Amino acid sequence: MCGIVAYLGQREATPILTEGLKRLEYRGYDSAGIAVIRDGELILRRSVGRISALEEKIGQELNGTTVGMAHTRWATHGAPTEINAHPHIAANGKLAMVHNGIIENYRVLRTFLEQQGVEFASETDTEVLAQLIGHFYDGNLEDAVRRALRDVRGTFGIAVLHADHADTIVAARRGSPLIVGVGQDEHVVASDASAIIQHTPQVIYLEDNEVAVITREGFHTTNLEAAPVSKAVEEVEWTLEQLELGGHQHFMSKEIFEQPESLRNCMRGRVDEQDSRVVLGGLNNIMREMVRCKRIILTGCGTAWHACLVGEYLIEELARIPCEVEYASEFRYRNPLIFDRTVVIAISQSGETADTLAALREAKDRGAMALGIVNAVGSTIARETDAGVYLHVGPEIGVASTKAFTGQLTVLTMIAAMLARRRHMGHGAGRRLLSELAKMPERIERALELNTQARQIAARFVEAENWLYLGRGLQYPVALEGALKLKEISYIHAEGLPAAEMKHGPIALISENMPVVMIAPRCELYEKVVSNIEEVRSRGGHVIAVATEGDESIKQLAEDVLYVPDCPEELQPLLTVIPLQLLAYHAAVLRGCDVDKPRNLAKSVTVE
Ligand code: G6P
Repeated sequence: MCGIVAYLGQREATPILTEGLKRLEYRGYDSAGIAVIRDGELILRRSVGRISALEEKIGQELNGTTVGMAHTRWATHGAPTEINAHPHIAANGKLAMVHNGIIENYRVLRTFLEQQGVEFASETDTEVLAQLIGHFYDGNLEDAVRRALRDVRGTFGIAVLHADHADTIVAARRGSPLIVGVGQDEHVVASDASAIIQHTPQVIYLEDNEVAVITREGFHTTNLEAAPVSKAVEEVEWTLEQLELGGHQHFMSKEIFEQPESLRNCMRGRVDEQDSRVVLGGLNNIMREMVRCKRIILTGCGTAWHACLVGEYLIEELARIPCEVEYASEFRYRNPLIFDRTVVIAISQSGETADTLAALREAKDRGAMALGIVNAVGSTIARETDAGVYLHVGPEIGVASTKAFTGQLTVLTMIAAMLARRRHMGHGAGRRLLSELAKMPERIERALELNTQARQIAARFVEAENWLYLGRGLQYPVALEGALKLKEISYIHAEGLPAAEMKHGPIALISENMPVVMIAPRCELYEKVVSNIEEVRSRGGHVIAVATEGDESIKQLAEDVLYVPDCPEELQPLLTVIPLQLLAYHAAVLRGCDVDKPRNLAKSVTVE
């Protein structure tokens, strides 16, 4: 989704800004723009498409300045055109603003400004805010920003420049993340830490309705009423190396292959097999309430929602606590029933997904204990929860979530095991479960050896326009996740279904050579899944099975078998999803798709 970078310091600004935009590319965008102040003049350049197109357009033209800002836009109001791209200009070409978020009352504000004689260049809500700031500007930029923001409904992360204040950036946020990197005589403002960490690990996280006024030497922060707010400088944990490709062709492949290591990091210091204990520091303070809770609601979007479905099974099966799953986008508007001792857990890789954040706030308002399972340290969801658990799987750049998904499953398993041990599970059973969990990274390493076979299978079906993914029990969410991976990056239509539901309609789709991925590890429902495979085969479908090593009989039924190592049923999703990630990855590469930045998708969806 949209990205912001702004720089004010001692160095050449333009290369820092374009480099920063590239670090934010993974969020998804369709146009880009830049504005700098040079010799008291504001210079603006924008273009549709990739950042490289913008770079070509500007060449060396914008060099010779140490202040500027840049933006990648993901169209919401108005088409992805140059005119609608940010920065937007106001105050006779002197003021520029970049914006993430949505100004909900932009129509009313636009009408008001038009009545005052303001002329608009674009269709965007953003320009309305830029013009509103311009309208209030009378020589004091920070006052004008605060004054305008007091009239705004909706969400924003903004940075503002004015040609008459070449030594100032004003930044503010509500709802959309904004971070200020604090360097030596320089500052970088960005919507995401990945555009900051090559310059400095020191950051401040702006909170809602805070305004930061940044100069080369320092910054001060206020609320919208101009009252000072003091901010602590914090340190970002992720390194630049973690953000780079490390020899892989795409971030998605790097992240798939990182999973053994990322899960070791996720479990480090948390799983104590010998003592049969799970230690999750982030939940320590609320542990007694959690153990006594009557109901757990898991909520999230996309891949995180699939992790919730696995979590529901784990929490009910292991901890024996009633658990429900709800899409965050539905939960927030559904008037949910929250009784005493309800715990709501929001799951989000980015910690910034607008719907998940809104669901979390709704849960808190209704008195639930609100927890988070989040990857991005310091993100909004992480900061707004009562308590939570970080994934610690490192930054995920590829739009298609892979290592965050297995991280989420691992954290959910740890939570379920921890609750189970404190409620009814004995020492021995706990120890067995945890020692099996600790072996998962090694097993995933073996599952990753399926890479070549997955590529060969993907190559055979690369022309097929429809795929089905079927699984039962715990493998049903895995089927959903496999289908989502395929469709989001290769644009092949794919559906995930509970295998038994196939006969109630989707079976009509099966025809000669249609690829049907059957997730059929050794499990309680194995025999039933085998019957489902036969139903597909007898209609000419091509079965690709994901099965447990040593299951020779499945070869009689499926044309292709991707074998994963054996493990207890509760942990199988961590393994069965691996070949599905690989299948999707290779299908997308073979179809020539932009794997890490698929069309129309954003890594972090900060609008509704
Ligand atoms: C977007 C991404 C998905 C992701 C979902 C939730 O739609 O494209 O891959 O699963 O958002 O993101 P979150 O950061 O909250 O996990």
